[in-house]
Amino acid sequence: MGFCQKIKGTQDFFDDNARKMRFIEDVASKTIKTYGFNEIITPIFENTEVFQKNVGEDSDVVKKEMYTFLDKSNRSITLRPEGTAAVARAFIENKMYATNQQLTKLFYYGPMFRYERPQTGRYREFNQFGVEVYGPSSPMLDSDVIISAFAIFDKLGLKNIKVKINSIGNSESRKNYVNALKKYFEKYIDSMCDDCKRRINTNPMRILDCKIDQNHEAMKSIPSIHDYLTIESKEYFEKVINILDANNINYEIDTKLVRGLDYYTDTVFEFYATNNDNLNIALGGGGRYSDMIKSMINIDIPGIGYAFGIERLMIAMDNENLWGQLITKNVVTIMGLDDISKEKSLILANLLRNNEIIVEMDYINTSMKTQFKLADRTNAKFIIIIGEEERNNNVVTIKNTITKTQETVKDIDVLSYLKERL
Ligand code: HAM
Repeated sequence: MGFCQKIKGTQDFFDDNARKMRFIEDVASKTIKTYGFNEIITPIFENTEVFQKNVGEDSDVVKKEMYTFLDKSNRSITLRPEGTAAVARAFIENKMYATNQQLTKLFYYGPMFRYERPQTGRYREFNQFGVEVYGPSSPMLDSDVIISAFAIFDKLGLKNIKVKINSIGNSESRKNYVNALKKYFEKYIDSMCDDCKRRINTNPMRILDCKIDQNHEAMKSIPSIHDYLTIESKEYFEKVINILDANNINYEIDTKLVRGLDYYTDTVFEFYATNNDNLNIALGGGGRYSDMIKSMINIDIPGIGYAFGIERLMIAMDNENLWGQLITKNVVTIMGLDDISKEKSLILANLLRNNEIIVEMDYINTSMKTQFKLADRTNAKFIIIIGEEERNNNVVTIKNTITKTQETVKDIDVLSYLKERL
């Protein structure tokens, strides 16, 4: 049966769902361009090392979730599980830092692949809208990046959004914190899950993110990263928070937020819908990554960015009933009541289409009943009827399906009549 069944964790998008997805892409791209971002389109697959090296060997994404395969020349290829490492690869390979050393702002949109356990809002193929900025480490920039995400939420109509924010410090802060965590978890580790047992040696901060042991006794009084931040990291974080305050951003400091990808430094954050009990999953997340570019080309260019899960935004918008007229098609259906009228319908249809009006027509049937069904199915706002009488008088009949009124309109006036009303 595989030949007519989609792969687990993937989805088909059609009709309203396809329109919803494109709507979000359109709003997000238009909004982010006002923040000075330019689009980047990178390949959907990359050399496996791109993600291995940058996302981190010990992250769940690299360890368990990548779609990795050998191509016919035995090269290890990976379907991108996220955008940040791929965009950084493109930034370096195309030497974008040479033309614009000060500030490069990029956004992207497209499918990502992770072998996760599928559930609501979690898929194996999903779409992200993401942004990456290469430029100075500046609290003002961190805050503006977060504000740009809120601008997108706002334009989508999502007003009840909170950003959970934390600082995981610079490398010095983290070194101190990691030592403290190792010491703290030592007394509990025997009764913790296998992943945690491994992470206590490889990356103890990831224990904070453990789904299996989230209610374990050990999670109750974990040392806070904020007690280990260097003065520099502490001041940086305070400035970010002050700027968010000044811009009325709804934030919550979450000292346990560490994020699942290994490249982050200092500011990290995740976005949540606040009025939605059944969607306790992040709509998006991101943070600063000051060392990624340096680790690849030894030039000190810090980065910061975030990505939204489009399917999750769709669920959040569904839950708040936000679509309204946004995705309703404004279709005109033309009915020809005999063969000659049908020919006239096609000419009129294409005149209107050339003027960006969506027009549908029945190509075969001349009966009114069947053609009304098509109008119904396509949600037509206007139905144009052409029969022998209309043809003889160089007019058409136009029915407005919303006001339930009907008017006779001269052939030459049809376009302007519709333009005024659509
Ligand atoms: P991430 O938190 O792994 O971050 O993913 C960002 C968002 O993608 C999540 O908050 C969620 O909305 C969506 N997402 C992730 N996995 C799935 C899934 N299996 N199904 C549906 N949606 C999913 C990143 O990917 C980073 N690259 C973000 C970033 C950009 N950091 C800096 N720049």
